[in-house]
Amino acid sequence: MMKIAVFGLGYVGLTAAGCLTKEGHQVIGVDISNDKVNEINKGLSPIKEPGLEDLLKTAIDNNLLHCTTNAGEKLGDVDLAIVCVGTPSGPDGSHNMSYIAEVSRQIASSVDRTRKTPLTVAYRSTIRPGTIEELILPIFAGVLGPDIGAVQLVYNPEFLREALAIKDYFNPPKIVIGTADGSPNIHMDELNKNIQAPVFYTKFREAEFTKFVDNSFHAVKVAFANEIGRICMQLDISAATVHKIFVSDTKLNISPYYTRPGGPFGGSCLPKDVRALQYIASDVGAHTHLIDSLLRTNEAHKHFLFEHCTRTLEKGSHVLLLGLAFKSDSDDLRESPNVDLARKLMQAGFKLSVYDPSLRPNHLVGQNLGYAYSHLPGLSNILIGLEELEKGSFDAIVDTNGSAPALSLDQSKVVNIHAIA
Ligand SMILES: NC(=O)c1ccc[n+]([C@@H]2O[C@H](COP(=O)([O-])OP(=O)(O)OC[C@H]3O[C@@H](n4cnc5c(N)ncnc54)[C@H](O)[C@@H]3O)[C@@H](O)[C@H]2O)c1
Repeated sequence: MMKIAVFGLGYVGLTAAGCLTKEGHQVIGVDISNDKVNEINKGLSPIKEPGLEDLLKTAIDNNLLHCTTNAGEKLGDVDLAIVCVGTPSGPDGSHNMSYIAEVSRQIASSVDRTRKTPLTVAYRSTIRPGTIEELILPIFAGVLGPDIGAVQLVYNPEFLREALAIKDYFNPPKIVIGTADGSPNIHMDELNKNIQAPVFYTKFREAEFTKFVDNSFHAVKVAFANEIGRICMQLDISAATVHKIFVSDTKLNISPYYTRPGGPFGGSCLPKDVRALQYIASDVGAHTHLIDSLLRTNEAHKHFLFEHCTRTLEKGSHVLLLGLAFKSDSDDLRESPNVDLARKLMQAGFKLSVYDPSLRPNHLVGQNLGYAYSHLPGLSNILIGLEELEKGSFDAIVDTNGSAPALSLDQSKVVNIHAIA
């Protein structure tokens, strides 16, 4: 069993402290609030969280938990310090990092510099990517100087939900351990050894960003669901039935599909139908701000990718575009983002060749033909075959569909926009 100090006894820290004692660890709770510390030391919970007060009472009775306002010398034989202080919104929307900075200074000053094994300091508060490297590490380095090896920093985001916090603590959706080089940390592995969940070892920044991605996605889901709900209410559609059908689709809807950063959306259906839903929503006064932003954010992404592909290229460079249709094995050019990219490249003065084995210009018909020639009038002149591709010399190869690795090309010239790494 380990000796663990928990800094910040709010919703996250106090739940962690209680659950750690349930596992048999010895816990020192540290908070700047005298009232909180006194209450917890009496076995009372200052916050309402189902099951927590029982855990705290048992821990105090069994001498597994003691709380204090000053860690002082007490970190001497502690294996692991877990930081759960608040990071509330600042006036400009950024996180207020003053509690993080302050607690880091306190921990750095309380570490025994002569300790045999480093103290693991694991941050659980939500902090912006780069905080460990740019704020916390310099604080420790400033205080500890050449003894910086006395600590090992970890970022370990917290995924619990209030009111279900104890259940979530023992059954998290995942465990993310961020370290300087992405390697495991012995104390974190010991901490999590009884918890069944997928474990991801990453560098600091990916671990720090995880929580922002999760919480923003949850917010997108709630906002989207409510926009759909508003449209349903206005049109006398049962939102409950629509929801039931929606979540039953675990192939395309509730699935990893359409979640990987990469190319913009396009094709003959998505842009058209999003545009039409926008029209319906505004017609019935549903004010669907999220849905209304989809085409604009998609256009922004198209431009971002164009700049990403051409950042290092000189005007007049020869660019090979792999894939013109909206996806591979299709010859549908309607609203293909790759057509927009091709047009932008040509307008910006690049020499463009396009390789798309699914496309035969003289086979394009109907709206597809009209779209292709109104957006790329010189289409037949820029399409090349496999032989030309293999003989050609290109300054950059833009891979829109993941086909580059299988082709005989200078792979060092490939810019992959199909999947952003
Ligand atoms: N509440 C949640 O459901 C939840 C879930 C996941 C992540 N988080 C993140 O975890 C962090 C903590 O959230 P919370 O809801 O528990 O916050 P909270 O405000 O309930 O608790 C923070 C505690 O830290 C204490 N504190 C401040 N400075 C301190 C210091 N120098 N030393 C010791 N204690 C100090 C405060 O007195 C307070 O008791 C935040 O970054 C939050 O975004 C919260």
